[in-house]
Amino acid sequence: MNENQELNIAVNPTSNTAITTLIMLANAHYDKALEILEKMGIEKEKIFHGVDSSDMINRPSDIVRELRYVALNRTIEESGFKTLMDLPCGYTPKVFDFTEKGMQYIGCDLPAVINEFSPIIASMTDDEQKKKINFRVVDVTNYESMKAAADMVDGPVCIATEGLTVYLTADETHQLGVNIRRILSEKGGCWLNADVETLEYYMAVYRAVAGDKAMELLLASRKGFSGQADTDLHKNNSNVVKESAGKLTPDYKKIEALYKSRGLLVEKVPYYRDDLKLQLFDAMTDEEIEKLKENTKHVNIWKITVDPDFRESAPVAGADAPSEILMDPDLPFDVQCSVSDGLLDVSVQGRMDTLTAPELLKKFQEAGSAITGIHIDVSKMAYVSSAGLRVLLIMYKSLKDKDSFELTGANATVREIMETTGFDQFFLK
Ligand SMILES: C[S@@+](CC[C@H](N)C(=O)[O-])C[C@H]1O[C@@H](n2cnc3c(N)ncnc32)[C@H](O)[C@@H]1O
Repeated sequence: MNENQELNIAVNPTSNTAITTLIMLANAHYDKALEILEKMGIEKEKIFHGVDSSDMINRPSDIVRELRYVALNRTIEESGFKTLMDLPCGYTPKVFDFTEKGMQYIGCDLPAVINEFSPIIASMTDDEQKKKINFRVVDVTNYESMKAAADMVDGPVCIATEGLTVYLTADETHQLGVNIRRILSEKGGCWLNADVETLEYYMAVYRAVAGDKAMELLLASRKGFSGQADTDLHKNNSNVVKESAGKLTPDYKKIEALYKSRGLLVEKVPYYRDDLKLQLFDAMTDEEIEKLKENTKHVNIWKITVDPDFRESAPVAGADAPSEILMDPDLPFDVQCSVSDGLLDVSVQGRMDTLTAPELLKKFQEAGSAITGIHIDVSKMAYVSSAGLRVLLIMYKSLKDKDSFELTGANATVREIMETTGFDQFFLK
């Protein structure tokens, strides 16, 4: 792994989760998933965990991924659009499924993934297929990067999202919606979001195979998954939950109202079909298959489009959102550093997200280990995503004396992000 790749993974370690998803699809007998893993050099022992009906650890997670994959792919196909913008693509074999069906494919993900995935796909495709495939580095909090990806192909786009928003903070999820609305308004198309009802499709599978133990098993498997992505950083991950029977669950009505208040229409496309067929049915009993089919009647992919009649109006009651994130598009990202008597003086300008934060981390590492104090001036920093916060945390943690860390000049947006993520306790004193 080269130095850049290491920096990219350090600022946003979620690419690991995409490898896990791919391993699960390989275990669900998707040959192309296995081929990609082999090209990535992943050892056989790390791929196969032997899925049989007695396996209550890997089997439900594998079924969850295959169910989501099958349901989303079918909905993409039915959308009728000619271009699929896979956001984020991870290392998915979708690229083959849809180019074989004649669609244009735009794979979008963080640099760590795209740098590794795009040469692999280039090595697995012929010239005709290559004409239909594009990859682009995108951070979903960064509109310019999303727009550049969408513009790689003319005409409307079907944006498909699976397995992303659990790794975003509430602010970032909000920003994703704002960016998608802008892109759909400009290009036309739709956003198929499989993530809104994440809890529901997990529960559909876990209830089918584990009955009363569903929640217990689900919580155990989620711990492992979020550990990989370092999502412990994300406090207060969702502001659209309600309490029911002493538990916090997503408030789907409120989420739909939020979309509506921002000019987005929601149509719910059920996972269920009479002819639903998974390759992993061969590792399930007839009773489990029947229960799963029944449970999927209540799970949906959200098909989101721009409301043509939308006019800015008063916010919908009870649908509070984080305030709009203000950005100065003319302020390019820049980091200036100087060291004097062990004190590192840093000034950050522009947006600090997954695409730019590696630069700060690199400069910090170059400053060496003799640093005893850090001052960071963020008065020109327009926005910080969780990747940027992660770098600030690495810097903070490197100091023996935490009081020698000082961050000054946070604007209202940055301050709000730090407060909602719980980072204010470290940085804003
Ligand atoms: C669980 S994987 C899912 C990937 C793919 N959709 C699939 O099903 O295989 C999550 C992906 O989200 C990507 N990701 C996380 N944060 C992101 C961000 N801010 N912008 C773009 N991609 C992001 C990660 O790099 C990772 O590839």
